[in-house]
Amino acid sequence: MPKLNENYLNVQDSYLFAEIARRVKVYEEAHPDKAASIIRLGIGDVTRPLTKSAIGALHEAVDEQAAAETFKGYGPEQGYEFVRRAAAEHYARAGVTVDADDVFISDGAKSDTGNITELFAKDNVILVPDPVYPVYVDTNTMDGKQIVYMNGTEENDFLPMPDDSVKADIIYLCSPNNPTGACYNREQLKAWVDYALKNEAVILFDSAYEAFISEPELPRSIYAVEGAEKCAVEFCSLSKTAGFTGTRFSYTIVPKEIAFTASNGQRMSLRDMWNRRQSTKFNGTPYIIQYAAAKVFSEEGMKECRENISYYMENARVIAETLRRKNISFTGGVNSPYIWFKCPDGMESWEFFDYLLENAQVVGTPGAGFGVNGKNYFRLTSFGTHEKTKEAMERFGKLFS
Ligand SMILES: Cc1ncc(COP(=O)(O)O)c(C=O)c1O
Repeated sequence: MPKLNENYLNVQDSYLFAEIARRVKVYEEAHPDKAASIIRLGIGDVTRPLTKSAIGALHEAVDEQAAAETFKGYGPEQGYEFVRRAAAEHYARAGVTVDADDVFISDGAKSDTGNITELFAKDNVILVPDPVYPVYVDTNTMDGKQIVYMNGTEENDFLPMPDDSVKADIIYLCSPNNPTGACYNREQLKAWVDYALKNEAVILFDSAYEAFISEPELPRSIYAVEGAEKCAVEFCSLSKTAGFTGTRFSYTIVPKEIAFTASNGQRMSLRDMWNRRQSTKFNGTPYIIQYAAAKVFSEEGMKECRENISYYMENARVIAETLRRKNISFTGGVNSPYIWFKCPDGMESWEFFDYLLENAQVVGTPGAGFGVNGKNYFRLTSFGTHEKTKEAMERFGKLFS
């Protein structure tokens, strides 16, 4: 009999969105007359189709695959040079220097934020914000690693800051944050970088929502802060930037400057370890997707992405306006597609989920799914259509005086 990885016993059984789907199904079966009017502002998936540049490029790349002269088989595990360079140029346009050689192309920030745990031993002090995207917690739990939680609360604007009394080895940061929409400013990120350098820690920085940052003074990459190249790995993705949630393309930056001393005294480069890991366990993102991603990174491609993002941010504005009118305080919605608010009338988040579904046929995401600090909070997303978002918020508004 195989001895199983019993750490899986410690991972919560039901994934958040599976439980949401289950509750919606139960409601639909009990109220078939209302099923058609349910509006989903829960799951963080986009609804706008791929941009013109991306679609054009996909067609071109498919045609290349149809001709013997241009057909591509296995590509480099790290991604094609042309797209690694395009990603680096995308950073350069934002005033941030990234070496194309440190860019690793992958099929998702979910895969990479999960897989990076393999590079680290079990006995690290790992800081994870709470609430946050659940993948960091689940993947470390699957590895049998202990987590120290950093509270994100109204008191710190949902942006935990370094605590000098804790000596961390690995720090997860997510900015703009999923689910709170809170976004670190330059001084706050500098405090984290200084802390990491002082403690010889590594920051795992998830910037999957950087494209939603609208305030120009806010950094869209941790590398906008001096010294970050010596201590931070950055995960980014075209999922929300370019609507690639179903197309799959992400990029992870592991700067060659990051190195730590092994127990035998040898210096180990994180970039070289990640390169070795990817070369061994990953055979690359499909050529046609990489080709399309390179077009998305172009100036024209990004202009089209910004149009889609503006579409979503108009929804965020509608949601925010309703909450403001109802005196419900919230974060997010300005530099993020997510809006996070305290459940009205002292309700807990799953209770509020049921209340909203029952009384307004609107589906959101209970904050409890993102950590204990989310117990009384709720997340709405701006990824719906204008019509549905407006209708959902009209119904929402009627529920509260
Ligand atoms: C913070 C955060 N990181 C990463 C991801 C996953 O991105 P990808 O689609 O690139 O796997 C998500 C998806 O919702 C996310 O919210």
